[in-house]
Order: sequence, then C-alpha cells, then structure tokens
Amino acid sequence: MAAPRFHTLEIAAVRNETPDAVAISFAIPEDSRDAFAFLPGQYLTLRAEVGGEDMRRSYSICSALSEQDRRTVGVKRIAGGRFSSFAQTLKPGDRIEVMPPQGRFTAEIGGHHDYLLLAAGSGITPCLSIAKSVLAGEPDSTVTLLYANRNSASVMFRDDLNDLKDRYTTRVTLTHVMDEETQDVEIMNGRLDAEKLERLAGLGVIDPKSADAIYICGPEPMIRSASAAMAALGVDAERIRFELFTPAPGAAPKPAPARTNGATVNGAKHGSSVEIILDGARRMIEVDPGQDTVLTAAQKAGLDLPYSCAGGMCCTCRCRIVEGAATMDENFSLEPWEIEAGFTLSCQARPDTGKLVLDFDAQ
Ligand code: FES
Repeated sequence: MAAPRFHTLEIAAVRNETPDAVAISFAIPEDSRDAFAFLPGQYLTLRAEVGGEDMRRSYSICSALSEQDRRTVGVKRIAGGRFSSFAQTLKPGDRIEVMPPQGRFTAEIGGHHDYLLLAAGSGITPCLSIAKSVLAGEPDSTVTLLYANRNSASVMFRDDLNDLKDRYTTRVTLTHVMDEETQDVEIMNGRLDAEKLERLAGLGVIDPKSADAIYICGPEPMIRSASAAMAALGVDAERIRFELFTPAPGAAPKPAPARTNGATVNGAKHGSSVEIILDGARRMIEVDPGQDTVLTAAQKAGLDLPYSCAGGMCCTCRCRIVEGAATMDENFSLEPWEIEAGFTLSCQARPDTGKLVLDFDAQ
C-alpha cells in the first residue's frame, strides 16, 4: 500500500460552531471516495502555506460513516495558533491540501455495545463521529456522552448533539459539564477530572465498569486524569481508548528501545547513507544523526516524506527498517509489536548505522 499523500479538495461548506470554532466540510469527489474512506474517530491532516511557511495540522472528522460525499472537521482557534486562526478564514470554494484519514482512535461499527464517551472542548469532534456512526449503524447499542466546556457559548456541535438526543431518545444520554457557568445540578459544575468522574460513577450517571469501550478526547491533562479515573474504577486498559495530538510537558512516551532491528551501532557517528523507498521509488539521502532526524534531513534534501505532527504522536511518518538500525527520540504512538516488526517513526528516527534502508510503502 502506498504512503499517504495529499489531495487537493474543495471546501463545500463552513459553519460557525462557536465564536472561535468552525466546522469545515470538504467535498469528496467520486474518484477519491476510496482514498477518503474512514473509520469513526480518525482525523484529516490539512496542509497550507501560512505566513510563508508550509504548515500541517491534524483535525478529527466529525462526520457519520453514512456521509459519503463530505468529510467535516472541527477547528477551534487556539491562542497563538497560526494554522487554527488561518482555518477560521477559509470559505466555501477555497481549495486546500488534505491527507486521507489517519489515526487509531477508532470504533469498528457492528454488533451491540455500550459506549462511554468523555470529551472536553474540541475533543467532541471524533466523539461526535463515533456517536453518530454507532447510533446509526448499531441499532441495539447505547452511547453515554459526557461533554465538558467552560460555558454554554463554547459548546461545539450543539445542534448535532441535540439532533442525536431527539432521534435516539432511549439510546443516547448526553450530560454537559461546565466549569464557568452554574447549572442546576451541582455535580454538573466544575472540571471533568478524576474526582468528578468517580463521583458521577458513584451516582450512577456513568457506568464505566459495564461499558464495552471508553473513548476519551480532550486536552492532555484531562485525558490523563480521566484514564486514571477509569483504571481506578476497575476498567481494563484494553477498553480505554485515547489519542494525543499534543503531549504536555512531561507526558510519558511509549518505550522507544535504544536500537531497533537488532543491528549493531556503527558508522553513523559522522553520517549515514539512508535509502528511502516511497511509492515504489528509491532515493538516497545523507543524514547526520547529531543534527537531523530522517525527516528533517529529507526535507533539507527536498524529499517530500509523509508526516503530520512531527512529534512522534500521529504515526503518519511510520516506515519499516529494511536494513540497518535507528533510534527514536520519542515515541508516543508505535505499539510494541510494531517496533518488534521493525517499524520506526521517521520524524523521530536517527540512524545508528552507516547504511539505513527505510520502506515507507510497508504496511
Ligand atoms: S509525523 Fe506524527 S509521528 Fe511522525
């Protein structure tokens, strides 16, 4: 399978969700439907030149699986965020580069399940896609959604959420938690943290122990706190799903073994010849591991490798070591079995051997 590449898509609609958030819908042409097939919970990476700089940012899809001709993402402006500010200026008819759906924070639709979704702020976006797809595609499944915001003005996708509540009255439970606005029920006020979740479980508002799958999306401290609360309430780790786009300082990466592929360290002190296999073609670049990762060296050499976060979180830059060895600076996304199978993240990988061969087409 080929490495993910950008497609130029036209914006079909832009909807203001809150004063600082928009929903942007991309028209998916008939001949790109296969490439843009997705699982609920995945994200799109957008690429644009902002202030003269080539920038990429990933935003979760909020569409239901049934929406064939459009993919919609939610973009909230963040303080000092150049790309998220630029995104607020986009309008129907604009064309922008978009990478096909990626991500492992997904729900496979089918069967009968009870889902617990914990979302904060723009973290509602993938949870909305999961909720819409589950309720439409699994007729016996239920969805309990806890959605935390500062106040009612910052609630994204209010109409879609109300529509789900009206349409699936007996199968969806939606609870808003606000920390800057007082609601009638005391427990719904404040932050969605571990203490709040434990109290909500004690009151029976949520039932994490009987949930088949728990999806958590929001700022990194909320994810850490909610995951810890779920574990403390006796939920098995396999049932807790979350995804990091931006690790907070001190976030623990997944173990990145000192060496991958079992090769001996040698010859890479002053540079390594790295052969890149991408879309069936081969290119050689020189990488000085003291100066560059494979990705930054490739960029300097004018080679367009697939990447999105450049921070070890999204896996877009995943490739397999065919020959040689490399060390990752950080790894927030590759699973132990992938490292065992020789995969690495090119945005984090520094060669350990004088020759390194990386296959971006390997799946
Ligand atoms: S680009 Fe996201 S992990 Fe490398």
